[in-house]
Amino acid sequence: MKIIGSYPKTRLRRLRKSQWIRNLVSENNISSNDLILPIFIREGKNKIESIKSMPGIKRYSVDKLPTILNQVKKHKIPMVALFPFTPDRKKDNYGSEALNQNNLICKSIKLIKKKFPNVGIMCDVALDPYTSHGHDGIIINGKIDNDKTIKILTKQALLNAKMGCDVIAPSDMMDGRVGVIRKALDKEKYYDVSILSYAVKYASSFYGPFRDAIGSKAKLKSDKKTYQMDYRNNFDLFREVGFDIKEGADMVMVKPGLVYLDIISKIKNNFNIPVIAYQVSGEYSLIKNGIDQKLLGEEAIIESIMAFKRAGACSIVTYFAIEIAKKIKTN
Ligand code: PBG
Repeated sequence: MKIIGSYPKTRLRRLRKSQWIRNLVSENNISSNDLILPIFIREGKNKIESIKSMPGIKRYSVDKLPTILNQVKKHKIPMVALFPFTPDRKKDNYGSEALNQNNLICKSIKLIKKKFPNVGIMCDVALDPYTSHGHDGIIINGKIDNDKTIKILTKQALLNAKMGCDVIAPSDMMDGRVGVIRKALDKEKYYDVSILSYAVKYASSFYGPFRDAIGSKAKLKSDKKTYQMDYRNNFDLFREVGFDIKEGADMVMVKPGLVYLDIISKIKNNFNIPVIAYQVSGEYSLIKNGIDQKLLGEEAIIESIMAFKRAGACSIVTYFAIEIAKKIKTN
């Protein structure tokens, strides 16, 4: 790029001199339209419990979901993402509970669709909340079996669609799952159920608090590097996205968020598809603890979300969604 102008004729501080002019020239702004709130669900009745590794975030029993959904509605957050904390006794090698039509996710979808029909619901398709080993797929002869796993994932996706889920979000990183899920959804005439593919998901240390929140951390004895992506590389990124689009993805996710802004911007610049960023649990807890301990100013939250917008994300999955919606209202 050719740089035009120079000091003293040009003074870049002119456009920063007051709040109104900064607002006038601002290229990116956040509204609650940009936010997706993840919600953790637990068994029992009348339960709202804190999650130690994620200060400020709770697990809700299904009957208590309206407490948080009322906030979502009030702040006009378009969509929630549901995650179950499955008790150990319901976990097995195959993640069978994923296909139980009375599991926590199914019950939650039904309740939310009944009481909050205008809130979008997104559900992960992956087995990790349900397996006794904490992996996203099933293990055969010591390996995560791709093709057998996607058969189960397809059933999981169909079940969620049947319950009323709007957006199916495969987060497992098996090859070919978007195509088989789209085909199965269409066969059952779920033409309007969309697929938000976790297309680009790295094997990351930033998922720690989430694994704690859904109770898979203690179960997991190895990493997920045979299916989640290697963060040293660029070579598979476009194929991951391109394959998923060809297979029928409507939107793609990049995850984690903040340390992968380069990836968001590459996808944005090379594909015509909505790109969604996931500000994952580790990012949340770092920023939240930083603020609580007064190491960071509170504006760090908005600053982090704005980085995603600048990079090209159209919306952001973030545990800060309610907090942000409150903040932008008072601005
Ligand atoms: C599991 C899944 C994970 C997250 C969302 N879905 C964790 C993982 O892959 O181990 C992480 C979300 C977060 O850290 O906030 N399929």
